[in-house]
Amino acid sequence: MVRPIIAPSILASDFANLGCECHKVIDSGAEWLHIDVMDGHFVPNITLGQPIVTSLRRSVPRSGAHSAFFDCHMMVESPEKWVEDFAKCGADQFTFHYESTKNPLELVKLIKSHGMKAACAIKPGTPVDVLFELAPHLDMALVMTVEPGFGGQKFMADMMPKVETLRAKFPHMNIQVDGGLGKETIPQAAKAGANVIVAGTSVFTAADPAEVISFMKGEVAK
Ligand code: DX5
Ligand code: ZN
Repeated sequence: MVRPIIAPSILASDFANLGCECHKVIDSGAEWLHIDVMDGHFVPNITLGQPIVTSLRRSVPRSGAHSAFFDCHMMVESPEKWVEDFAKCGADQFTFHYESTKNPLELVKLIKSHGMKAACAIKPGTPVDVLFELAPHLDMALVMTVEPGFGGQKFMADMMPKVETLRAKFPHMNIQVDGGLGKETIPQAAKAGANVIVAGTSVFTAADPAEVISFMKGEVAK
């Protein structure tokens, strides 16, 4: 069976204290950090790029104390342009959007040839069947539960049938959900079959992030 993984989205952190903020959620039980890269073209917002990922990698290594897996969610046009750079700056996984590329399988191969895990995301308006052929080549599929572009939006429960369909067809695949996840919405996502949970606002603004992370892990493990 797939295991529960909580991936706090650093978009909801205090960027002036990024290293400490990340150490805080890692010490609270997060094994992954979800890094939202937006280019102002694929989505109407700009966030962060290679210099920040490079600095963060120095402060959050791949193993040992304060370590985490860097899950980079690339909300960019022409994602193929950024594969080499993100591999160099320390990304562990490169998630591209199905809607952003003409040849997803070639992109998966390129990502893997640079030593990263390859994942594919679909926006709320994209049907899940576009992933069926690609899925056996992927390390993870991401079903967006908000329109990509901003943190702090409302969870779209009507995306859960996509998760259920993927889980039924691919019982061993990592299936990620992203957007509006917290203690109220995790039961629906977990029941549908998601095992990799992105949570920005609900983790970074929590008085007790360890409690939120452990609650979410528990729901996925049920
Ligand atoms: C939205 C991003 C999400 C977002 C999640 O485009 O992909 O990762 O930061 O934030 P919350 O958990 O606050 O909805
Ligand atoms: Zn994201």
